[in-house]
Amino acid sequence: MRATTLVFSLTFALLGTSAHANSSDDNKYICFNTTKYVGTKNVEVDMGGTLQTKPCDTWIDMLQTGTNDLAGITFDANFDASTASDAAKRHIQSFGTTLKCCSDGKSALYKNQKYFCKDPTDWAPDKTYKGPETSNTELSCDVWVAGDDDIKNEDFSKPWSCDEKSATIKQDVQLLGADVMGCCGATKQSACHPYSVSGAASLQHVGVIALAAAVAVFLA
Ligand SMILES: *[C@@H]1O[C@H](CO)[C@@H](O)[C@H](O)[C@H]1NC(C)=O
Ligand SMILES: *[C@@H]1O[C@H](CO)[C@@H](O)[C@H](O)[C@H]1NC(C)=O
Repeated sequence: MRATTLVFSLTFALLGTSAHANSSDDNKYICFNTTKYVGTKNVEVDMGGTLQTKPCDTWIDMLQTGTNDLAGITFDANFDASTASDAAKRHIQSFGTTLKCCSDGKSALYKNQKYFCKDPTDWAPDKTYKGPETSNTELSCDVWVAGDDDIKNEDFSKPWSCDEKSATIKQDVQLLGADVMGCCGATKQSACHPYSVSGAASLQHVGVIALAAAVAVFLA
């Protein structure tokens, strides 16, 4: 098991002074399914080198103060995580998914990415994989697709065509996602199937994939 710790920006350490006060704000909206939010759950966060344990609610409120990454955001029924800043998205993903402030591990950024697979019913979001391509960190297909640098901007929640995509995207989707990680089950057919590259090119891409996976780990 990977330690559930996160590193925040240094500005975070300066805060705690200004109270977060907007009564319409409701942190449960960081979750895909608001009934899964556990605001009282204690989670450990690395605040610039010091591990501290506080409830999810406290961390999220703190991140909404001052110049922190969630400042300016009101969590309510109108909150649209997809339009949040990259920094805000990282926190929403971290608290919702990695730290499980959402008990099902699905943050407001969660999408049913079933069109990743040629046959959407093959999509295996909870399938996990751990290997050299993910720096030996266990990642679920869900988390990996949302975080992989090469494909995180693709929207697999809608019918998705691989046709005009770059070789890098095709490689990540089919060679890593379907062939290696098993995100489309036993058929191993992603939306980019059939796709293959020569042994040399394939080897070359392992480095690229490892890099992308490292980003995924951070996002996770
Ligand atoms: C809280 O935020 C909402 C939405 O941004 C805003 O309409 C409301 O006036 C704010 N309430 C307070 C007390 O600041
Ligand atoms: C949210 O979770 C509840 C309880 O498990 C479930 O009944 C409901 O269908 C879920 N809602 C969505 C949108 O998935």
